[in-house]
Amino acid sequence: MTENRCVVIVGSQWGDEGKGKIVDVLAERVDVVARYQGGANAGHTVHVGSEEFILRQIPSGILHPSRHCYLGNGVVFDPVQFFEELDALTARGIDAEPRLGVSSRAHLLLAYHKMLDRAAEAGRGAGKIGTTGRGIGPAYEDKVARQGIRVADLRDARRAEELLRAAAARVNRRLEAMETDERVDADALVAEVLQYRDRLLRLAVDTGRVLDDAIRAGRKVLLEGAQGALLDVDHGTYPYVTSSNTTAGGAALGVGIGPTRVDAVVGVVKAYTTRVGSGPLPTEFQGELQDRIRELGGEYGAVTGRPRRCGWFDAVVVRYSARVNGLTGLAVTKMDVLDTLDEVQIATGYTAGDQVLDDFPAEMALLEQAQPVYETLPGWKADTTTARRWEDLPKAARAYLSRLEEITGVPIWYVSVGTRRDQIIDLGRAG
Ligand code: IMP
Repeated sequence: MTENRCVVIVGSQWGDEGKGKIVDVLAERVDVVARYQGGANAGHTVHVGSEEFILRQIPSGILHPSRHCYLGNGVVFDPVQFFEELDALTARGIDAEPRLGVSSRAHLLLAYHKMLDRAAEAGRGAGKIGTTGRGIGPAYEDKVARQGIRVADLRDARRAEELLRAAAARVNRRLEAMETDERVDADALVAEVLQYRDRLLRLAVDTGRVLDDAIRAGRKVLLEGAQGALLDVDHGTYPYVTSSNTTAGGAALGVGIGPTRVDAVVGVVKAYTTRVGSGPLPTEFQGELQDRIRELGGEYGAVTGRPRRCGWFDAVVVRYSARVNGLTGLAVTKMDVLDTLDEVQIATGYTAGDQVLDDFPAEMALLEQAQPVYETLPGWKADTTTARRWEDLPKAARAYLSRLEEITGVPIWYVSVGTRRDQIIDLGRAG
């Protein structure tokens, strides 16, 4: 097996698959971890001993001493939230600052992007996307409209002030047109940015160069995705998506290395499915099972606290995800949440009216009508949380996992059976 020096970790459903835990486990074996998209909309929960950490922008690899962590150019970087998160880590005894870097090319996400996010959602009425309210969409809008402000723009303080004042005037015109009362205070905005400017500039690097050099020097790199493939702006359930390319193709782009540098892509999937926010979820549970799985799995948003919608494992989604991400291995998480069920179901296809769909459709209307075709397997009705090897898993649990491999066409590399670091089965296939 060839050595995988640069590995991408992607959520392969609608986010919240437990990437934080998998990145945390894998960070043990790598030298560098970098985020490539998204921003403070992500919420990676990691349990270390009895402590819980919720990380929004800083890669969870930071919890391992001596790992270096970066935020790539593809991230929309919220400096206020970032420094709060960093200071909280420092207060808990984690010396993170000397091990962190932020791309000079990353776009700044400022307070006015959150105002625009709130105003846009309020204006959507019944068609709300259910965003996290962290300003993600408006920050990416500014980037693509070529009116964003990048970390590198802060080097020249006078120029930075000009850009900030121009942005404040532009945003205020927009807020007025959106008929909201909120307005940007340009003086306060400039003062706030100047407060953290020097500290931020000390962390600014060319992440592409740093990572390319690391790979050439034989060091191991993990590129960490946020959200999930079905929230990708191109390949997800548009318009109920986030505003970045969450899929593996976005990884090289979002840190500034070439795609030929990537050796493997690990897709993280829950043993079932969840979604937070609006949009279709074909395998959503009806009735009692919804509350039962939500409680057993603690399915509440790490950032917003919103209850997540839960459903059966959707192999149509994961097969599609496997293709658009080029998955080489799966990490199946939260297997233990299904431990008490009499039987488990897997959606192998959909029907919509008189059509049979075996691939994930682009048309939202079709997806909204989609009725899953289920395959039912016996439950294992046994505790999996102490399993550390494949052979430790109950036979029915192994049969369920083997069936997931078969239907999705992707070998399982890891199975997670609890929130703690040690609750993982490594099938030894990762190289
Ligand atoms: P935004 O990224 O805040 O613009 O939200 C767009 C959509 O992505 C909404 O449905 C959010 O609930 C969803 N979303 C954003 N970040 C996450 C995440 O980390 N996990 C799960 N869903 C997310």
